[in-house]
Amino acid sequence: MPRSAPVVLTCTSFLAALALALTACGGGVHGTPGASGLRDPYFPKAGNGGYDVTHYALDLAYDPDEKDLSGTATITARATQDLSALNLDLDGLDVESVTVAGKGARWNRAGQELTVRPPHDLDDGETFRVTVRYSGTPETITDPDDSKEGWLPTRDGALALGEPTGSMTWFPGNHHPSDKASYDIAISVPEGLQAVSNGELKSTRTADGRTTTTWHTAEPMASYVATLAIGDYTIRRSTTPDGLPVYVAVDPAEAGASRKVLAKIPQVMEWAQDTFGPYPFSSTGAIVDREGDAGYALETQNRPVFPGAPDTETLVHELAHQWYGNSVTPKTWQDMWLNEGFATYAEWLWDEDHGGDSAQQTFDALYDHGEDVYEDLWSFPPANPTSSGHISDSPVYQRGAMVLHKIRRAVGDKTFHAIVRGWATTHRHGNVDTADFTAYVEKRAPDEDFDAIWKDWLYGEGKPAHA
Ligand code: TRP
Ligand code: ZN
Repeated sequence: MPRSAPVVLTCTSFLAALALALTACGGGVHGTPGASGLRDPYFPKAGNGGYDVTHYALDLAYDPDEKDLSGTATITARATQDLSALNLDLDGLDVESVTVAGKGARWNRAGQELTVRPPHDLDDGETFRVTVRYSGTPETITDPDDSKEGWLPTRDGALALGEPTGSMTWFPGNHHPSDKASYDIAISVPEGLQAVSNGELKSTRTADGRTTTTWHTAEPMASYVATLAIGDYTIRRSTTPDGLPVYVAVDPAEAGASRKVLAKIPQVMEWAQDTFGPYPFSSTGAIVDREGDAGYALETQNRPVFPGAPDTETLVHELAHQWYGNSVTPKTWQDMWLNEGFATYAEWLWDEDHGGDSAQQTFDALYDHGEDVYEDLWSFPPANPTSSGHISDSPVYQRGAMVLHKIRRAVGDKTFHAIVRGWATTHRHGNVDTADFTAYVEKRAPDEDFDAIWKDWLYGEGKPAHA
């Protein structure tokens, strides 16, 4: 999605100098290199400056025996400054060639930065296309919190998980949540295996012992929720009562254990739409791999990934992320609690609406003895994780949900419901930060004073004095 950029007129001229200015700007040297990172407070090198990606076309082939991926990534982007060079993020793999607008471009690599120097400078506002051909064995990376992401080889194939930065292990791009784009992913695998990705399945073709599957994601997607699941899967396609396509892929070893919970997807979707408002995407579903194929579930767009059969709360959590995280996406990794606080609160609401504990009971139990279960519950405020190794800790999840419950108690159920829905609707397919959220809540409940909630619960160190 385009971020607004200041308009810089590098070719301003007064009339007398017009001819000279035209000469200077007519395709010559006038741009500067785009930034190599977006200065995210937690992952400063992630993403790149100077352009916005509008579309990724990934044409990939994977060989599980050799663990070899080869691909062509065609990235359509719009320059947000005059550019003499631009960076893409790519971790590992061998780059074979890079073209810009079909012409060979010079490039070099340093760490996760792939710097591309187009044959001609790009103008601010210009739409351009970069094509990168690459191959190799994609890497599994270890996050600052010690979890594994990126490319995860499995017994029968591979699984690509990208939160927060792992997607740069399998395709070059602007790997930061602030730059969302549409995707077309084509993936060729040995005949007999399946390849599942985001969006909607467009075609499947088998020739010469290989099966190519193509997937289309029209709605903006952050690269950290892009996925690829390659392996032996049982596929079940259906539609929800209101006509939304459901695509579920399950490792046969998990079929029995996951059948009952996956059958709840239509019911969860209906409840979620009642609670959060219209679903922001064109299909739903799930990917269930074996326990141990990944260390956690992830809200990959359209169809979350689960390592082993999920419980209902986890299914609710990952589907809630489709609204909070995937459609309404953080501007930076600092704002993770806007994802996880909402997805956790969705679990509380589900329980409350389905004969379990009320959200108030869940809140009280956490306030009274939450640290028995979540040792670090009060170790930092949701809006300010200590460091990149802590963005998936319980202050972001449980205490983030507690912030939402405090708002609910302040404004009452009716206004709270309107806030939860309105937040998803107003910022549908957009990017947000904590200040956007507090401003939105204040606007929807102008008579309330939220200062104490923000100060004690959202930004304050330590356990707030009052529940
Ligand atoms: N977002 C995932 C969930 O809550 C959990 C997760 C996986 C995560 N990898 C992460 C959170 C990296 C933060 C950073 O379902
Ligand atoms: Zn989550």
